[in-house]
Amino acid sequence: MASLFRTLAVLGTMAGMAEAVDLASYVLPLTGTQAGGNTFPGVSEPFGMVKLGPDMDTGPNATGSSYSGYLPGGAFFTGFSMLHESGTGGAPKYGVVSQMPVTGAPVANPLIRHADARGTSADVASPGSYKATMASGIVVELAASSRAGLYQYTFPNSTSNTNSVIVDVSHFLPAPDRAYLSQHYLGGNITVLSNPDGSGLQYQGAGTYNNGWNLSPAWTVYFCGYFDESGTVKTFVGSGSTGNTVNQFPAANTVSTSTNRLGAIFSFNSSTTTVTSRVGVSFISTTQACSNVNSQIPAGTNQTALAAQTRAAWNDQVLSKITTTDTSNTTRLQLLYSSMYHMLLLPQNKTGENPMWSSTEPYYDDIFTLWDLFRCTTALFHVLQPTMYEEFIRSLVDIWRHEGFMPDARSSFFNGATQAGSNADNVLADAYVKGVRGNINWDDAYAAMVTDAETVPPNNNDPRDPSGSTKEGRGALPDWLNFGYITRSYGRSVTRAVEYSVNDFSLYQVASGLGKTEDASKYLERSRNWRKHWNPSAKSLGFSGFLVPRTKSAFIQQDPLLCGGCYWKDDYYEALSWEYSFNAHHDINTLVNYSGGDTTFSDRLAMMFVPGQRPFGSAQFNNTIFNPGNEPSFTTPYLFNFVGRQDLSVQYSRAAADAYYQPTPGGLPGNSDAGAMESWVLWSMIGLYPITGQTTFLIGSPWLSDLTISLGGDKSLTITTTNSSYTSSSSSSSQSIYVQSLQVNGQPWSKSWLTYNDIFANGGRLDFVLGPNPSNWSAAGLPPPSPATEANSPPPLVLPSIVDRDRFSWRVARPVLATLASAVSATLVISAMYLCLRRRRLQLLSANGDQEQLPEVEAPPPSPPPLQTFTKKSLAVLKRLPRKAALLLMWPKRLLGLAGPKPTNVSVEADASVVAPADTTKDTAKQTATAIAVKSADSASDTGSDLTESSDNDAAKAASQVEAPAPVVLKPSTPTGPDAV
Ligand SMILES: *[C@@H]1O[C@H](CO)[C@@H](O)[C@H](O)[C@H]1NC(C)=O
Ligand SMILES: *[C@@H]1O[C@H](CO)[C@@H](O)[C@H](O)[C@H]1NC(C)=O
Ligand SMILES: *[C@@H]1O[C@H](CO)[C@@H](O)[C@H](O)[C@H]1NC(C)=O
Repeated sequence: MASLFRTLAVLGTMAGMAEAVDLASYVLPLTGTQAGGNTFPGVSEPFGMVKLGPDMDTGPNATGSSYSGYLPGGAFFTGFSMLHESGTGGAPKYGVVSQMPVTGAPVANPLIRHADARGTSADVASPGSYKATMASGIVVELAASSRAGLYQYTFPNSTSNTNSVIVDVSHFLPAPDRAYLSQHYLGGNITVLSNPDGSGLQYQGAGTYNNGWNLSPAWTVYFCGYFDESGTVKTFVGSGSTGNTVNQFPAANTVSTSTNRLGAIFSFNSSTTTVTSRVGVSFISTTQACSNVNSQIPAGTNQTALAAQTRAAWNDQVLSKITTTDTSNTTRLQLLYSSMYHMLLLPQNKTGENPMWSSTEPYYDDIFTLWDLFRCTTALFHVLQPTMYEEFIRSLVDIWRHEGFMPDARSSFFNGATQAGSNADNVLADAYVKGVRGNINWDDAYAAMVTDAETVPPNNNDPRDPSGSTKEGRGALPDWLNFGYITRSYGRSVTRAVEYSVNDFSLYQVASGLGKTEDASKYLERSRNWRKHWNPSAKSLGFSGFLVPRTKSAFIQQDPLLCGGCYWKDDYYEALSWEYSFNAHHDINTLVNYSGGDTTFSDRLAMMFVPGQRPFGSAQFNNTIFNPGNEPSFTTPYLFNFVGRQDLSVQYSRAAADAYYQPTPGGLPGNSDAGAMESWVLWSMIGLYPITGQTTFLIGSPWLSDLTISLGGDKSLTITTTNSSYTSSSSSSSQSIYVQSLQVNGQPWSKSWLTYNDIFANGGRLDFVLGPNPSNWSAAGLPPPSPATEANSPPPLVLPSIVDRDRFSWRVARPVLATLASAVSATLVISAMYLCLRRRRLQLLSANGDQEQLPEVEAPPPSPPPLQTFTKKSLAVLKRLPRKAALLLMWPKRLLGLAGPKPTNVSVEADASVVAPADTTKDTAKQTATAIAVKSADSASDTGSDLTESSDNDAAKAASQVEAPAPVVLKPSTPTGPDAV
């Protein structure tokens, strides 16, 4: 009740609001659940540890993964479980502590598949509540608090059915297509209780699991469940940790810890058609699991009341932080509030539930991943959730205190899946420069950053890239410390070089603030090391100068439009040189110089958005080099502000937002990445873009006529736009999106950027005048800061360019070989089909006694799948073939699983409704198959010398393979011995 009044009070203060609205009504939790978005549509509080929702698969022999548990379309419910993540890739985590209702005969074997198809009614999801209707007629309604959940089952009416609920401790979300990342059930126990009259049904116990996307060791969850109705209970034990053979059924009331599958069946007679169960979880003990459920969901709580309470939490704590009176476009409001909702499901606040160490510090888990989140999400946490944000940073530092390293990614109390840099450094720097102090111990925080910058993390021998740690810290640090660049001794060398530069800039920021001047200058110098990968003679699409891989003495020639497998062992991770070459956001002026000046830089940025330029791109994204679905491209549309073309930032960022974001199930450009995508579009709607690690915000163009952001206390930021005439049609060229003029806190403003202090620290006001045509309103203002650029920045390093044939040639050859293989198989398949059809027709004709002569027709070609199901790589290879031939070639290729490696932009399979979205744009473990293929190709064609680099060997290659002789070698401005040739 109190929270309801709070909601009303908040709504009441929204000046000018036509009517008090329940902002949660704009939240569509099914947004982003299809097309690889992988968002979680079940029930959760903001940052809730419990995420209660369905677990689904596509059938008994499912090969895909359901990352958040949910699947759209004609899928099967296999359980409803308490722990989930949202918007992840790689391989699922959790889907544990489940219940599965069944009706009909008494359950004879609880370990066989008890799956129920989706019924005729679609699932209904809203903040706080989830309702599933299954084909059996059972309706499941869910509600949850932060550490407990409530199940309400309505069984179909019958005079003879037994209604049962199976508690299977061995249930989890599998990854059948990614065995090495799949979770496993390792064991558990269960104790059941009931009164002699069948009342007081209860169960408690524990389950232990491991692995998942972060390759974690075993972890244990404790549970404590109650049923409100009277019935009977029997425990069961299987004969292994997998398989469906029952060993004991019924078993004793307590099944002590066993690695075999185990659980309990609760049964109710046909007259009990409504069954309610309350379940608590804990990572500490069953006692704590019981106290979690009894304190948060006391006996007798009904689903409707609990759902209303959780909905109020979303309204009070989250949605009311951004309000508007501009209710003209409901779709926009749905995008706004659904994005806020999905952005704040993760990380999970497990304060008081950390089994690894005891501490008075807060504890947040399920960070997927700071690589995804540092660009847009954490800066928005700061604005929208300042209390949580400070706790989150304290938690990162406490993890370092007790485990030695901060995470880049973390789940089930374990660091893992560090994709490139140690990006917690950027998050901490962002908080520090914006004045976040509170209870953060900044001396410890800085020490944690220094650990990242100076201590080589132990190698965890990740099969995806055994060259250095992928668990935490900077796995390629030895090269970075020894040379100031990263050779191919390490995977992802180019990506890591540019990210380590940004990380070192983050250390510079905090060191400067803490008065550590020696450290500050050292890290500022190191933050310029990205320049040592800049090959001024690398060329692409008429532009010169790109980040490239290198040896100790030479740049390795590469097409900046290719990234090999674009995966853990490759030079670039999930993005092209074109994209990473724009990622030194602390040193943009050097980048502009290296690129040939303002105009060339602007043209080069614009090339990112020209359709059809990305050879193995995605049709969904018009094959642009800009990849709206992955984080390395996030900042690129806004970089025009650095060269006086703020209008182009507006044009391209708005075009991307309009094209790729809708509040619909398929409305995200790929994995949500735990809300990273949603935070990108939220900044677009606000009309600002953060440069993490600096106080700078680049100015875009707000979407709504007014917006008020509550900043805590009585501070707020108000943003207005006038002369805007939005239409619901996003393609309308008369949209008033271009800034004509701006006032900041009532003063005219001519800069295309502002700082945190200008409008956030004490609140503020932005009043935009927008129009349908570009204007040069910010031409006279100072450009945004480029804090790592010297007054006279040195010219780029010149080194010979060598061709590394071993490593590169197979990648060029591979698509060609794959296509040849396809051609051969296409011929075989078509011939086989032709023969079959012909034979069948002959049989039919003879069976019918039809004497009519067989007409001279060819067998129809197999009908091709929709265009977007092809991998773009293959399409590009086939570009020059006649279209029909290409279609014919691709079909069998796909059937036989020969489709080439997943490109960085994979358009989502058209039949995503039935195929689990196993591979998506930014899926951290995408291209596993590729990686394996790569490995065999590598071992076949390469002696490994490129991985254990020998400078002599490279020098020899350099001498014999320099294509464009570059005899003039300039000393780098910051002479480091190994760079000299
Ligand atoms: C699943 O696989 C099993 C064993 O290979 C097979 O017997 C069964 O028919 C398959 N089921 C479906 C629905 O394809
Ligand atoms: C089941 O029977 C009850 C009592 O007759 C009735 O109120 C309810 O609507 C029925 N439910 C269904 C699903 O038919
Ligand atoms: C159940 O397992 C947990 C975790 O391993 C353990 O702490 C507990 O003592 C076990 N209980 C029983 C009854 O075996």
